[in-house]
Amino acid sequence: MVFYASVNGEITPAEEARVSVLDNGFTFGDAVYETLRTYAGRPFHLDRHLERLRRSAQRLGIPMPADGALTRDLDALLARAANPESYIRIIVTRGRGDISYHFDRVQGPTVVMVVKPLAPFPPAHHTDGVPVILSSVRRNHPRALDPAIKSCNLVNNILAVQEAQAKGAFEPIMLNETGEIAETASANVFLVKDGALLTPPLDAGILPGITRLVVLELARGLALPTREEPVAVKDLLAADEVFITSTLKEVLPVATIDGRPVGDGHPGPVTRRLLEAIRDYAPRNSG
Ligand SMILES: Cc1ncc(COP(=O)(O)O)c(C=O)c1O
Repeated sequence: MVFYASVNGEITPAEEARVSVLDNGFTFGDAVYETLRTYAGRPFHLDRHLERLRRSAQRLGIPMPADGALTRDLDALLARAANPESYIRIIVTRGRGDISYHFDRVQGPTVVMVVKPLAPFPPAHHTDGVPVILSSVRRNHPRALDPAIKSCNLVNNILAVQEAQAKGAFEPIMLNETGEIAETASANVFLVKDGALLTPPLDAGILPGITRLVVLELARGLALPTREEPVAVKDLLAADEVFITSTLKEVLPVATIDGRPVGDGHPGPVTRRLLEAIRDYAPRNSG
C-alpha cells in the first residue's frame, strides 16, 4: 500500500518525502493540521476544512498559502494516489527555523499533504456501537492551549488515548477544567435525552468539529430539538443515546461508558437516523 505525500507541492511516495529536521513543526510542534476523507474520490467539505485550517494558522501567526493553491496541490496529490477513497492529512508548519523562538528567522511555511487509502471502520462499530471511558486526563484549558486551534501538539490527546486503550476502550471522553463534558481525543460528543439532541457548546473548550456542525444542521432539518449547552457527567450517564462525531467516524454510536451500557446498550433511533442522514449528505457535499 503506497501513501503519497506533497511537500510544498512536490509529490513523491510518502516514504521519500523530506522535511528538514530544523522544521518548527518537528522541533516545536509549531504547526496546524486538518484530517479529511473523500466520498466518491472527492474531499468532504474541503471548504470548511480549509477555513478551519486558516483560523488555526491565524491563531499561531503561521502564514498560509491561498485556498486555490492548496486545492490545486491536493487535487494533484489525489490524482497521483488514485485511491478509490482516501484519508487526507494537511499539515502547515511555520517552516524551517534554527531551534529558537526567533520566528523572524523561520523560512516557511512548510505545507505537507499526505494521502493514504481510506481504511473504513469495521461495520460493527456503527451497527453495535463502541466502548468509551471517561478519561482522567482533562482537555487542555482554552487559556493554555485552546482546543479550537487544531495544532500538531497532540500530547494531551495521546495521554487520554493511551488511558482508553489500556482499558480496552475505543475512545476517551475528556472533561474540561470545570468537570463538564468536553470532547474525545478525536471527536465531538452528543447525547439524546427525551428526544432532544444535546452537545457541549464551543466555549466548553472543544474543537469546532465540522461533523458536529453538519449533525446540528441535519438535526434541525429533521425537526429534532437541538441544544448546545454544558453537559454534566451525570447527564451523559443518564442519556438515552450517546454518539461521537468526526470526519472519519461520521456518527458513531457509543455502546458503553466505563463499562456501563448507554440506554439499552444498542444504538438508538436518533443516532441511527443521523448516521443515515450524514451518509446521504456527505457524498453530495464532497467536491
Ligand atoms: C479533538 C477533536 N475533536 C473533534 C474532532 C472532530 O472534528 P471533525 O468533525 O471536523 O473531524 C476532531 C477531529 O479530528 C478532533 O481531533
